Amino acid sequence: MKQFLLLLPIIFGGFFANAQHEQIKLKYSYGDLEPFVDSTTMRIHYSAHHATYVKNLNKALEGHADLKNMPLIMLLKNINSLPQSIQMAVRNNGGGVYNHNLFFDVLTPASNSVMPNELQKILTAQFGSVDLFKAEMEKAASSRFGSGWAWLLVQPNGKLTVVSTANQDAPFMDVSFTEGHPIFNIDVWEHAYYLKYQNKRADYLKRLWNVVDWKQVYQNYLSATGE
Ligand SMILES: [Fe+2]
Repeated sequence: MKQFLLLLPIIFGGFFANAQHEQIKLKYSYGDLEPFVDSTTMRIHYSAHHATYVKNLNKALEGHADLKNMPLIMLLKNINSLPQSIQMAVRNNGGGVYNHNLFFDVLTPASNSVMPNELQKILTAQFGSVDLFKAEMEKAASSRFGSGWAWLLVQPNGKLTVVSTANQDAPFMDVSFTEGHPIFNIDVWEHAYYLKYQNKRADYLKRLWNVVDWKQVYQNYLSATGE
């Protein structure tokens, strides 16, 4: 037994040294968000775009045993401290992994898109109404030039704020820092909507509200505020 315990660091050290970032599992099928997000877009978004971000993140970390064991969020908070040769790869692909992990997790079939009363009260208290909150998210999402994201963050004082980031940046990256913990985001890369909505990003944004997993957003709020 004692010998086994002595071997544990070697066994798990080896395991973690080979740790790979993995793609999250979707909680729904590709077609379950129809007609608001089409099945083909979901399939390509998840199985091609997101899968490629995961693959390229792992590739960037090859040969960096110390960084392979680091949680993704820590990598992204410390982009500037990474070896320069992999900073852009981790920023783009690591951001792509984190941002989509959250985005895919806050979507759900329309039949399940029901906002808890508690979240409704919180959004109303902080933005004036749920509609005003949605308008602020849509403004951040539609005014983002090119590719990027709109975000709902919980700041350390508990207040909610809406921001946007470019490309695959996450708000907490040390290269584009905005204080706060993300609890909801919207992907405004064209790959998220172009097949169905073409250049009409505003239409995509309006219809996306039908498939938001508000229960998950509320859970994320509770986690972020420690409630
Ligand atoms: Fe995307």
